Amino acid sequence: MSDMQTDKKAKIELDGKVFELPIIEGMEGEKAIDIRSLRAQTGYITLDSGYMNTGSCRSGITFLDGERGILQYRGYAIEELAEHCTFVEVAYLLVHGNLPTPAQLRNFSEMLGRFAMIHEDMVHFFDRFPPYASPMSILSSMVNSLCNFYPEMTENPLDNIDAMAARLLSKVRTIAAFSYKKTMGHPVVYPRHDLSYCANFLNMMFDSPVAPYEINDKVVAALNKLLILHGDHEQNCSTSTVRLVGSARVNLYASISAGISALWGPLHGGANQAVMEMLETIHAEGGGYRKFIEKAKDPNDPFRLVGFGHRVYKTHDPRSRILKQASEDVLASMNVVDDPLLEIAKELEEVALRDDYFIERNLYPNVDFYSGIIYRAMGIPANMFTVMFALGRLPGWIAHWMEMWNDPDTRIGRPRQIYVGPQLKPFVPMAERTGNE
Ligand code: ACO
Repeated sequence: MSDMQTDKKAKIELDGKVFELPIIEGMEGEKAIDIRSLRAQTGYITLDSGYMNTGSCRSGITFLDGERGILQYRGYAIEELAEHCTFVEVAYLLVHGNLPTPAQLRNFSEMLGRFAMIHEDMVHFFDRFPPYASPMSILSSMVNSLCNFYPEMTENPLDNIDAMAARLLSKVRTIAAFSYKKTMGHPVVYPRHDLSYCANFLNMMFDSPVAPYEINDKVVAALNKLLILHGDHEQNCSTSTVRLVGSARVNLYASISAGISALWGPLHGGANQAVMEMLETIHAEGGGYRKFIEKAKDPNDPFRLVGFGHRVYKTHDPRSRILKQASEDVLASMNVVDDPLLEIAKELEEVALRDDYFIERNLYPNVDFYSGIIYRAMGIPANMFTVMFALGRLPGWIAHWMEMWNDPDTRIGRPRQIYVGPQLKPFVPMAERTGNE
């Protein structure tokens, strides 16, 4: 991993003394003050809630420029990857750092087929969840459990990267589809060797003993695109969680299970489900979206226009541009002529983008704004949307976990704090406590 140590220094004056801190520069000109020696030199720490100004690592996986709306995986523009690749190719790219040759792709795809089953004892786990269990909770628990069934992967995780990545990608897909079948009360459908990654997933989701599922190439292509767009997004909340948990040297499954839990949150991956619920509420109330815009602008109302805003993008999220077009294509290919939710989404976007509140705060539609509409057209229910996000983000999590594991700079993640609690006071024995101590 290379960055450039520049000749420049940042100077900081504390208690009448000047300290110099190195300045480093990334491959795309991003600049950072290297504060690793700050506390040792000065006794001071930095305070940065939400880590908005903190670089937690150096990474060679994804480049993201939120001001200019640029997203690249391993140096390739997201627009080109979404246009020309399958999800399996992009997963390989993220994990290995290079696009696969035809032979590498064949080998990787063959492994995805071979590892698709999950241990039959694990299949019984699904029977013990209540019927209303959240698929995200099931996914997180099952991924954590994988380390008990495939312990060989926890010992030397980097010995066979191909097999490790293929095992996880393949099994998580099976677990995701089984969790849906479980919530429906339907028998699970086992994976098939003859189907591609995405076709196999759709078949496990929708095939049934009474109604065989017909694979639609356009739907398969749209699913590939959606998963590619979710593949990685540098140090977001769930990826940082995977890295942080992994920094304690815990195994990959446990780290990814923690990442799945982080993704579950409505401010992160859970937003795609929340967008759909918001659009449905607007539709049920007669389509009057302006009321929701006013609520979102009201400083006394906690409501936020879900699917808008992003911690990093201060312009259009490049992924949402691709998805807006994809949503129209999928709906057309599935003969959905008028989707009222798509119409509401488009109008909402148009009005919000002309509104001063959203303009001043750089609030643009994010990736979640359109993804739910496509998933819905495919027949995927809203409570599975975040599971779909997890499936797409998996290669990114694996790539980051490996990078963290290999990086000689990695230390156990352990931030500091500014203590604001009570100062030392005498202990009060039980008999003397009034409750007001
Ligand atoms: N609707 C209305 N106002 C908003 C929204 C929104 N969706 N998002 C931010 N704002 C406002 C805030 O109220 C704040 O206004 P103020 O300066 O007057 O107080 C200002 O914009 C800045 O907002 P922050 O919360 O400071 O921005 P932050 O970077 O911390 O949050 C986040 C980013 C969490 C994504 C936020 O925009 C949000 O809650 N969006 C809705 C949920 C969502 O769509 N999440 C998905 C994110 S994408 C992903 O995870 C894949």
